[in-house]
Amino acid sequence: MENQLIIEGIERLKAERNAVILSHFYTRREVQEVADFVGDSLSLCKAAVNSKADVIVFAGVHFMAESASIISPEKLVLLPVPDAGCPMADMVTVESLRNAKEKHPNAAVVCYINSSAAIKAESDICCTSANAINVVNSIEDREIIFVPDKNLGAFVSLHTDKKIHLWPGFCHVHDNIRDDNIKELRKLHPDAKFLAHPECRPQVLRFADRILSTSGIMKEAGSSDSTEFIIGTEREIVRNLKAKYPDKEFYPVSEKAFCYNMKKITLESILNSLQNMEYEVHVPEHVRVKARKALDRMLEISGN
Ligand code: 13P
Ligand code: SF4
Repeated sequence: MENQLIIEGIERLKAERNAVILSHFYTRREVQEVADFVGDSLSLCKAAVNSKADVIVFAGVHFMAESASIISPEKLVLLPVPDAGCPMADMVTVESLRNAKEKHPNAAVVCYINSSAAIKAESDICCTSANAINVVNSIEDREIIFVPDKNLGAFVSLHTDKKIHLWPGFCHVHDNIRDDNIKELRKLHPDAKFLAHPECRPQVLRFADRILSTSGIMKEAGSSDSTEFIIGTEREIVRNLKAKYPDKEFYPVSEKAFCYNMKKITLESILNSLQNMEYEVHVPEHVRVKARKALDRMLEISGN
């Protein structure tokens, strides 16, 4: 089917079902174009809570749709492709986290939002890349188990006096970015500012001018006086930036920074999702109630 026909179908069904489409910045261009809201993990959470829709179609990965369902249980949350997951979220299991809690009984657990509902339910508070430092510094405990992203955890540990136990998880998309990539680009574009996502390795982050979430990178590129930027995150962001700021230059730090899970969401899958009301993301109530506490605590800090 032609894209235009698919888009018309999506618009019609959205109105009929009182649905909204929420999309992360890493999805395909055409998907972002049909979305009602495009943002980073934190703003997507807030958009889910504040939406008046009955149905949320989540153009993103599973943990994002699950988070929306945890905080907005009265809404039907659909993930158009059920296996669009985040490999990093699968790098921590409930059993392994419980073992770590036994090993460090005085530690609070801070979980990155890139985690399953079951992990959130085992955690004291959630964070996203936009608020991780504030979240960690907001809690009284001196010791913290930070799951699952070792790179984000290492970045946070530079901005707190708390003892952080890092988990060996990582995002393969950001971990693929190497310091050699940035060194080469710096030679080619010596005046460019390097904006990096905190999921990158510490060896890469030490070259960054600013370390920011995806929304933070978008905002910084607009407000900065600089006209050239090297972008250290998923490469879709570079396309977004070029479209938004056509007078500035953007260079992806690595073409390998590509999240194939986000790209699984297509226009066809969104149309199918609205036609057949699938695939519903459901979190068992006993898990949801606990996971919600961790998300609510984060949202209180971040201002809802
Ligand atoms: P943010 O949206 O919080 O910047 O995180 C990026 C990411 O990897 C989402 O999976
Ligand atoms: Fe997960 Fe990385 Fe993809 Fe984000 S970019 S969804 S952290 S694999």
